[in-house]
Amino acid sequence: RSHTRMLALNDFEIAAKRLLPRTIFGYVSGGVEDNQSLRDNRAAFAEHGLVPRVLVDVSQRSQSVTLFGRTYDSPFGIAPMGLSALSAYRGDIAMACAARATNVPMILSGSSLIPLEDVIRAAPETWFQAYLPGNAERIDALLDRVGAAGVRTLVLTVDIPVYGNRENNIRNGFSTPLRPSLRLAWDGVTHPRWLLGTFLHTLVRHGMPHFENSFAERGAPVLSPNVLRDFTGRDHLNWRHVDQIRRRWKGELILKGVLNVADARMAREHGADGVIVSNHGGRQLDGALSPLRVLPDIVSALGAYPVMMDGGIRRGTDVVKALALGATFVFVGRPFAYAAAIGGQAGVEHAIRLLREEVDRDMALLGVSGCGELGPELLFRATPGAIHPA
Ligand code: FNR
Repeated sequence: RSHTRMLALNDFEIAAKRLLPRTIFGYVSGGVEDNQSLRDNRAAFAEHGLVPRVLVDVSQRSQSVTLFGRTYDSPFGIAPMGLSALSAYRGDIAMACAARATNVPMILSGSSLIPLEDVIRAAPETWFQAYLPGNAERIDALLDRVGAAGVRTLVLTVDIPVYGNRENNIRNGFSTPLRPSLRLAWDGVTHPRWLLGTFLHTLVRHGMPHFENSFAERGAPVLSPNVLRDFTGRDHLNWRHVDQIRRRWKGELILKGVLNVADARMAREHGADGVIVSNHGGRQLDGALSPLRVLPDIVSALGAYPVMMDGGIRRGTDVVKALALGATFVFVGRPFAYAAAIGGQAGVEHAIRLLREEVDRDMALLGVSGCGELGPELLFRATPGAIHPA
């Protein structure tokens, strides 16, 4: 299996670029407009150098972290990614089962093409990310469905009142609906492993992929004209709806897509159990700052509150830098989608283990035995580009 040759998360991206049609790879890898936020997500990590301690006995080290009463074997998990079943056969299930097997959390996207009940059945601890409209009845209906499926941890994504300006999708011929064209057909035919292994395999065994977990779109086919374009009501969503959700939802509630300190404070005041500091992987507001840059201010404003982050994490050193700046936990997106495309569940498990080994080695080299020992005293603010080119 080709995934066993991958030595680092970035290797999966290179392999996925060859495997996937340009249309699909572009959708996963892309950002918005001029990719300022996408680039800043990497650049911000390069601006922190590590200053290790030596002669520390690190023989008993552990990277496990307890979050919301559950202990995970690593301080990272899988970020929610919509349409994963387009890039990998049953992609969401592959990722959820890999997360389960390696004891890390996975957040299922509200824009998944597989019913959330199916994913929860395969991996009961999976978190669920919701896109919700500012409409009380529709919110209640979706929350009840998610609760009935057995989900405990709900992630409400709040940085998408309207869809970002993803020019790259237009340039690559990606749209929902996927418009049949000669170019798209050629793209498929010239990527036969994807065409047979993912697309036709899905079509034969499960039929045309459908949006399954969105507030309005259960069963709406990918070919329907109003899917990602139908943002009706999402721009109404506000803190009153968060209060409504908080009253009805008994499990953990996390707000994802917070960048401003004021919003992080509001999240806590409105009863959320944590925030994920994120600019949506550079896919929404171009120029929105890298989450790593705003993380320290949010952490110092909120103290012991769970402050998680995502965006641009590709190496164990990125994970330890984020934790040293105060993150409770981090999430990684694109590399796991590529790993699913290349090796299915086994590929994702391999990617998780690679990152886990890196974190373990980096902790030892830093002179640290547990995630709680990672702090800003191990970092030095370096000239941009001095550590590694972004
Ligand atoms: C995303 N992201 C995302 N976020 C979310 O809350 N709901 C979603 O459905 C999606 N869909 C989605 C699809 C794809 C293909 C990507 C790449 C991303 C954002 C995601 O959860 C996360 O914030 C970023 O991907 C993190 O950045 P990295 O690790 O990809 O750099």
